[in-house]
Amino acid sequence: MKKRHQQAIRCLITAGPTREFFDPVRYLSNPSSGKMGYALATAAVMQGWHVDLVSGPTALAKPEGVTRYSITTGEEMLYQVQALFKNCTILIKAAAVCDFRPKHYSPQKLKKTGVADWTVTMTPVPDILATIAKTKSPGQLVVGFAAETQDLETNAWEKLQRKKLDGIVVNQVGKADTGFESDTNTMLLLGKQGERIDLGHGPKDILARQLILRLSEWVN
Ligand code: PMT
Repeated sequence: MKKRHQQAIRCLITAGPTREFFDPVRYLSNPSSGKMGYALATAAVMQGWHVDLVSGPTALAKPEGVTRYSITTGEEMLYQVQALFKNCTILIKAAAVCDFRPKHYSPQKLKKTGVADWTVTMTPVPDILATIAKTKSPGQLVVGFAAETQDLETNAWEKLQRKKLDGIVVNQVGKADTGFESDTNTMLLLGKQGERIDLGHGPKDILARQLILRLSEWVN
């Protein structure tokens, strides 16, 4: 099959955390810094790809050559990704989306006076990756990340199949020097045809470059 020019590839990357507020000053989130997703965006630009970056709140500067769309909640990320996905060749979902959000939002700051325990009822946030993968056209690729603390590979194969992905990058979280916030990571790429590519441990920018090179072989 004739390969597409790298410059014709439109890549959509998500990065960083989402935040789910239960009043104007309090929210649920996670420790994602955005470093992994931003490193991927930079590597994709180096590859010659057109890059859209949908980013949750981070302290990072916009990588050169990238169009950035800033969002806060999972719902905002879903709408932004849906709007951009139609024209993209490959979606890489490195963002850490909060799986749940508070069921009720109070527009006024909730008062803690006289409250001993606080119970917040949570409701699921739509699975953006699974929702998008269902709308895929031939030639489009959807690649997720799996943040795991145990049974890394088993859990990742399960996510790849359940969410109907073309690939998934497994990374260990909950330890120093890998996953959230760290400048380094440990990554394994799994593909729906049974591909298993161990990218090892190293700086996120180097791993990002290796991952984009591997994925460029999957795009046609
Ligand atoms: O940002 P850093 O500090 O550099 O950290 C990088 C990282 C650890 C956040 C990143 O490498 C990573 O693993 N991102 C995925 C985190 C995650 O949400 O993993 P998960 O196993 O819970 O979710 C699996 C996939 O489903 C992910 O691609 C996620 O974006 C997606 N998802 C999850 C929930 C949801 N409601 N919608 C989704 O699309």
